[in-house]
Amino acid sequence: MTIEKIQELVKQMTLEEKAAFCAGKDFWRLASCARLGIPEVMVSDGPHGLRAQKTAQDNLGINDSIEAVCFPAGCATGSSFDRNLVKEIGSAIGTEAQAVDLSVVLGPAMNIKRSPLCGRNFEYISEDPLLAGELAASLINGIQSKNIGTSPKHFAANSQEYHRMSNSSEIDERTLREIYLSNFERAVKQGQPWTIMNSYNKINGTYTCEDKWLLTDVLREEWGYKGLVETDWGAMDDRVAALKAGCDLEMPGPGDNKQDIIDAVTNGTLSEEVLDTSVARILDLIFKYTENRDTTAVFEYEKGHALAAKAEEQCMVLLKNDDAVLPLKASQKVAFIGQYAEKPRFQGGGSSHINAFRVESALEAAAELLPGSDITFARGFEDSVDTVDPVLIAEAAEAARAADVAVVFAGLPDSYESEGYDRTHLRMPMGQEMLIEAVAAANPNTVVVLHNGSAIEMPWIDKVKGVLEAYLGGQAVGRAEIRILYGMANPSGRLAETFPLRLEDTPCYLDFGGEDDIVRYSEGVFVGYRYYTSRNMPVLFPFGYGLSYTDFSYSNLHLSADSIRESEPLTVSVDVTNTGSIAGAEVVQLYIGAKGRKPNGIIRPVRELRGFDKIYLEPGETKTVTFTLDSRAFAVWNTTLHDWYVDTREYTVEICANAFDVLLSAPVNVTGEKDIPYTYNMNSIVGRLMHDPKGAAILANLQNVFGGEAAAGDGEDSAVSSEMAIAMMEGMPLRSLPGFVDTIKKPMLQQLIDMLNAKE
Ligand code: BGC
Repeated sequence: MTIEKIQELVKQMTLEEKAAFCAGKDFWRLASCARLGIPEVMVSDGPHGLRAQKTAQDNLGINDSIEAVCFPAGCATGSSFDRNLVKEIGSAIGTEAQAVDLSVVLGPAMNIKRSPLCGRNFEYISEDPLLAGELAASLINGIQSKNIGTSPKHFAANSQEYHRMSNSSEIDERTLREIYLSNFERAVKQGQPWTIMNSYNKINGTYTCEDKWLLTDVLREEWGYKGLVETDWGAMDDRVAALKAGCDLEMPGPGDNKQDIIDAVTNGTLSEEVLDTSVARILDLIFKYTENRDTTAVFEYEKGHALAAKAEEQCMVLLKNDDAVLPLKASQKVAFIGQYAEKPRFQGGGSSHINAFRVESALEAAAELLPGSDITFARGFEDSVDTVDPVLIAEAAEAARAADVAVVFAGLPDSYESEGYDRTHLRMPMGQEMLIEAVAAANPNTVVVLHNGSAIEMPWIDKVKGVLEAYLGGQAVGRAEIRILYGMANPSGRLAETFPLRLEDTPCYLDFGGEDDIVRYSEGVFVGYRYYTSRNMPVLFPFGYGLSYTDFSYSNLHLSADSIRESEPLTVSVDVTNTGSIAGAEVVQLYIGAKGRKPNGIIRPVRELRGFDKIYLEPGETKTVTFTLDSRAFAVWNTTLHDWYVDTREYTVEICANAFDVLLSAPVNVTGEKDIPYTYNMNSIVGRLMHDPKGAAILANLQNVFGGEAAAGDGEDSAVSSEMAIAMMEGMPLRSLPGFVDTIKKPMLQQLIDMLNAKE
């Protein structure tokens, strides 16, 4: 429906009707109006499959929902580093939504993994905003290609579950822009989602539902967002303030705020135009969906299951493979150990919980894919918290001893990670850790397959030969596991998050959770690998890490120029060759480094991911991968300009195997094109003049005078070396100079300041 027609409709609505449209009709449905022919539409979670509740409703996955396909969760698809794959999952979910008449899928969930403790990390994509933003955009584009809306969530800075409805994320401007908003910026610009869901929390003291800066100035005016903003379920604070800020729809509804809207319009504190704009956005969504209904769409369950298996195959990360213990051979006698071989943990708890129509375990898949192979099974543990069952462990060790290889299917139980609360430690249940140790002691060829939604500590790592991270891999996880374990597919996932050695090493260890509902993000932009690489700290497994059954080599790194201006694009190409004997996919990672701190410059991470691509290579095949970088690849957020800013300096373009391992690198000089305005005064330091071309000539004279004084003490045992004199002068405010240099007088300095501040 055209915007004109929508506006016509809005004109025909009474104030009461308009106010009613600003909240849902119930838990999942938007308001409708038979009088004006405005139909009823339903929304549903998301993000990795449909949780459509057609009867009893809730937002925590307690009541039943329709049978659907559970695709791998965000923790897994993040590790695929594969835009096409995620888009394919999106379009399958879009078709399913058409088939069951849902207008919007509530996802992608894309908050930054600030700490591995966040209970909802299993739904989120990455600790890196580029990766999270790109893959979120792919999911949006896939779902929306079927004329179903999406709702990237939770906007923004919602990186913990503890007190998520009352805490305030206290974040400085640069960190917000570079880390916690740039993921959403990318998703919005590349995906134009139909809706966006604001988060429960406050940002710097303001609930996001009523944050005009966030919802209007940044989202709509800067990023060009055209859709509607809805609250997370129950995230509304002040309804009238929220409308003014740009929050259109309160969910769930109808709630108790309709009268507030009517009163505010009647008494003139809320302009009716603001209300009309929000209602128009809601109607636009309703008609966009109903006018593009695909009534021929069919929910293809088996096809979905096959896609879930293929997807998980491309998500799993091979973390360790000593002595090429993997892939297994069908001729080997293998002991499968652990309850997750029979009953895998494949999804997380809460609003994303899907009623999977079928779940395929590794044991079930092995029976079909490896007929006649010698696989035994020992349960090893019960999926309950911290129980150690010595009988099950002894049985498992026995089974391991009798086999050529032991594969332990372990991980975190549901109760360890979920929406609504955070983890308190990074360990697996003690019973499972003891099981792994016992099995490894019984059989040196032990492999662990992990089912968890976020990083864990692995005190047992040196005792096993192989580790395969399956994450929460969706309903077909078992099939994907068998195909990877037995070499029918080659692992190609890479970690989208760092696995630290210990919880205490994590960048926000001291601040996570907050005090009195104030959560200080004091680590700033140093989130995830940005922190560990900059501190050169050992980690268990770095961001971007993952092994393959084949080998890749990199050559011919080529930059289109060795120096550019900020507005010029830089093209980077590199050749990647599969040097092994089997086919496989490789994730090519490009980082930009800005080493060393420039005088007056800001502190930057050692390197930041600025491009990635996943390519498939036959044995011996070489492909050239090309990246085009724009100024944002080099930029930081400048808090004087309140804009992106490129510092003039040398950067390094780095092609890496992971955040720590640089394979090839080349320098490039970039000349920034923006000036940061500055007004000199008596408190300006001499160092600032040193780097200001205008001040350089004047300063030369000044240095002679000052240098002369300092030189008086020069000599072997002088207390003041010339380095020290220069350093002291660099940091000295202009006002202090007369005290040290007789020839410098205050009026002279004022003259200097006036000259420096004079417009050209
Ligand atoms: C969650 C959202 C979800 C909504 C509806 C909330 O509790 O935070 O992610 O979409 O419920 O179920």
